[in-house]
Amino acid sequence: MTSKSGTAHAPKSSADFQSVSPVGAPSTRPLPASILAGAPLTALAPMQDVTDLAFMGVIAHYGAPDYFFTEFFRVHAQSRLEKHILRAIDENATGRPVFAQLIGEDLQHLARSATELLAHPVAGVDLNMGCPAPKVYKKNVGGGLLRDPAKIDEILGVLRQAIPGRFTVKMRIGFEDTTHFERILDLINKHDVDLLSLHGRTVKEMYRSEVHYDFIARATERVKCPVLANGNITSAATAGRVLGQTRAAGVMIGRHAIRNPWIFRQCRQAFAQQPVTAITLADVREYVERLYRATQVEGLDERIHVNKMKKYLNFVGQGVDGTGAFLHAMRRTESEAQLFEVCDQHLLAEPDKVFADEPYPGVIARPNCETPSGDADGCSLETVTG
Ligand SMILES: Cc1cc2nc3c(=O)[nH]c(=O)nc-3n(C[C@H](O)[C@H](O)[C@H](O)COP(=O)(O)O)c2cc1C
Repeated sequence: MTSKSGTAHAPKSSADFQSVSPVGAPSTRPLPASILAGAPLTALAPMQDVTDLAFMGVIAHYGAPDYFFTEFFRVHAQSRLEKHILRAIDENATGRPVFAQLIGEDLQHLARSATELLAHPVAGVDLNMGCPAPKVYKKNVGGGLLRDPAKIDEILGVLRQAIPGRFTVKMRIGFEDTTHFERILDLINKHDVDLLSLHGRTVKEMYRSEVHYDFIARATERVKCPVLANGNITSAATAGRVLGQTRAAGVMIGRHAIRNPWIFRQCRQAFAQQPVTAITLADVREYVERLYRATQVEGLDERIHVNKMKKYLNFVGQGVDGTGAFLHAMRRTESEAQLFEVCDQHLLAEPDKVFADEPYPGVIARPNCETPSGDADGCSLETVTG
C-alpha cells in the first residue's frame, strides 16, 4: 500500500483549512473540505489513550479520514489544556483537520478552555456528551449531561457564544433511555451546532449492545447540521449500509480503525464505486511494526510498551483468525522480541492470506469489561474492548 500522508505541512491556524458545505447540508459555518469531493464524510472517532499524535500519523499513513478528533481535554476550575493532547493539534502533519474535544460542565471554564483552544490550529471545538464511564457521568459531564436538557441548553449557549468558528457536539442517544432525545436535538438546532457526531447507543448501553441506527436516521431528519453516524461501523460495506439507512452526512469510526487502519481509504473506494483494496496478513504485520515504532516513547520500559501494544492488538486480532489463536498467543508475550515472534508466526506463515474485512464473530477483545470499574475516569483502552 502506498502512503497517503507524510508530505503535508502542519497548518498554522484554524483558518488554514479550506471549507466547503457537504452536499445537501446547509450550514452557516461550512465544514472543512473532504478528501473526496461530494462523497460522504469520514472521521476517526475520538479515543482516549489512542487518538494521539502518533496514532493519527499511523492512520494517515494508511489513508486519512476527512476529520480527526482529539482525546477529550478535561475542563474544571483548575484545568489547563493538557500538553500531550495539544501536540495532536500543534504538530499535526496529517494534512487533515483536527477538532479538539472538551469534556466538562462548568460554564465559565468551558468557555475559557474553548477560547484557549482557538489559539491553536483547530478545525473546531467539540463537546463530549457521551462518555459512559461512571466516574465521569457521576460528575454530570460526558454522557451524564444527557439526563439534564436544561444544563445542556446553558452549556451549548455559552460555548456557541465563545466559539466564532465551528462548534460541534458528540453524543449518544440518551442516558438510560431516549426520553430527552428530540429535546436535545432541538437544542442542537437552537444553538447552531455545526456538526453532530451521534453514537447510536444510550450511555447505559456502553459499547457492545446493538446500535440504534433508526435513532441516527431520526436525528438526520431533525437537525439542521450534518450528522456523522457512529457505532459499530466495521467496514466500508457497513459504512455504505449505515449511510443508506440513516442518510447521515458521513461516518465516524473508532475501534474498527484500530483493527483496520485502511478503513478510511476503503470507504472512499467504496463511495467512488471502485474495488475495495484487500488487506493481507503481511500488510497487518507491517502495520503492527509501524504502530510499535510510532508509539514508542524514549526511556519507557519495554514491558510497559509491549503491554500497551497488546491493547491495540486486541482489536487487530479480531481480523486475523476465527479461532482467536493470535490473540491467545499475543496476550502471553512479555517482550518486544516475543511479541514480534508471535506476529511473524501468525501473520507471515501465510502472508498473502486476506485480513478479514469484518471482525470474526465470537473473537472478542478481552478483558471483556462491558462495565468499566467505578475507578476508571474515562474511556480508556483498559476498559473499552471490541
Ligand atoms: C478506547 C476508547 C476511548 C474512547 N474515548 C473517547 C473520547 O475521549 N471521547 C469520545 O467522545 N468518545 C470516546 N470513545 C467513544 C468512541 O469515540 C466511539 O463513540 C465508540 O467507540 C463507538 O464507535 P466505534 O464502534 O466505531 O468504536 C472512546 C472509545 C474507545 C473504544
